[in-house]
Amino acid sequence: MSDSTPRLYEQFVIPSYGRLSLSFVRGEGSWLYDEQGTAYLDLYPGWGVNLVGHCHPRVVAAIREQAGRLLHVPNNYYSPLQATLAQRLVGLSYPGKVFFCNSGAEANEAALKLARKWGASRGKWRFVTMENSFHGRTLGALSATGQAKYHQDFTPLVPGFTYVPFGDLAAAGAAVTEETCALLVEPIQGEGGVNVAPAGYFEGLRELCDEAGCLLIFDEVQTGVGRTGAWFGWQRFGVQPDVMTLAKALGGGVPIGAMVAAAHVADVLQPGTHASTYGGNPLVCAAAHAVLTVLEEEEGLERARAIEAQLRARCAELQSRYGVIREYRGAGCMFGIELDRPGQPVAQACVDRHVLINCTHENVLRFLTSVFLSEAELDQAFAALAAGLARL
Ligand SMILES: Cc1ncc(COP(=O)(O)O)c(C=O)c1O
Repeated sequence: MSDSTPRLYEQFVIPSYGRLSLSFVRGEGSWLYDEQGTAYLDLYPGWGVNLVGHCHPRVVAAIREQAGRLLHVPNNYYSPLQATLAQRLVGLSYPGKVFFCNSGAEANEAALKLARKWGASRGKWRFVTMENSFHGRTLGALSATGQAKYHQDFTPLVPGFTYVPFGDLAAAGAAVTEETCALLVEPIQGEGGVNVAPAGYFEGLRELCDEAGCLLIFDEVQTGVGRTGAWFGWQRFGVQPDVMTLAKALGGGVPIGAMVAAAHVADVLQPGTHASTYGGNPLVCAAAHAVLTVLEEEEGLERARAIEAQLRARCAELQSRYGVIREYRGAGCMFGIELDRPGQPVAQACVDRHVLINCTHENVLRFLTSVFLSEAELDQAFAALAAGLARL
């Protein structure tokens, strides 16, 4: 990397991110290339954004095409691409309607506002969310996030949030009151350590919300759009939410977020109650259409399930060799390997071998791979992981 880039960052970019000293200028499939043309195998492309890989040719073509036609038109007009994208998302999920925005945090803000507005006439305004959850960095989404480390120095938070342990149905039951407007949960906790809930948990949450008369919201920002081998995480355990939020994979690399609200709450947000200038503009909708088409026509969901099978088999083999692996878990190409000690040295050892893997929650090595990750690429990934684990 030329040292001018870090120097410019130091001088001109607000230092709110920790960065590896890598600088990338090109991407293709599961590979990133630096200025010298050195290739890195990316096991979490775009932090979950590039589920169909970096620069999938059909997504790039759709963006190029649309860029020459119409980039942006505001939401006080109709846009056919937005209408048909909403229709597709509803067709893949449940009868309802979609609100478009630009990120996961914004999709969650929309869901929180919808729930507050829905609850306003019912005396319901509180939220129940999960410990170790992650819902984004804007103040509402941050308040929903059940991790004290992210709250520090940003208090007072938005009032009304109660956090309960993920997977603990009794705790959720005790926290939900007649003032609760919604319970918000990730189908699989991502940033919190790739945590999978016990069987029956989501069925229990659905019953709980129905009995208490509050909304069940799934944050599918990380799990959604095919990553788990189903279009949406909730489809893996057959429990339908009232609202779900999407972002990351949906745009394949352009900023788009979406909230899909089921029919009975779809008209809560009336004109003037919520908006986003860029939300669902023609450029991002064209990209999202292309992503959905790629997943549909190139066996995206089947590929995700095949990667899960591969990851399970390879993690089992790795665990038999390295006692430091406590557990491995996940669904589709969202997978975590929990170690009995910090995982950053392993992630760094992988970087040294030009393999990029994320370490989250201190000790969980996280895969958020492309559905197109090949067996040969998995071989390379696991060779690097094994070398990193051997170093411990
Ligand atoms: C489950 C979940 N929700 C929300 C977000 C926030 O999304 P964004 O960074 O696009 O605002 C993330 C980001 O990692 C996420 O994993």
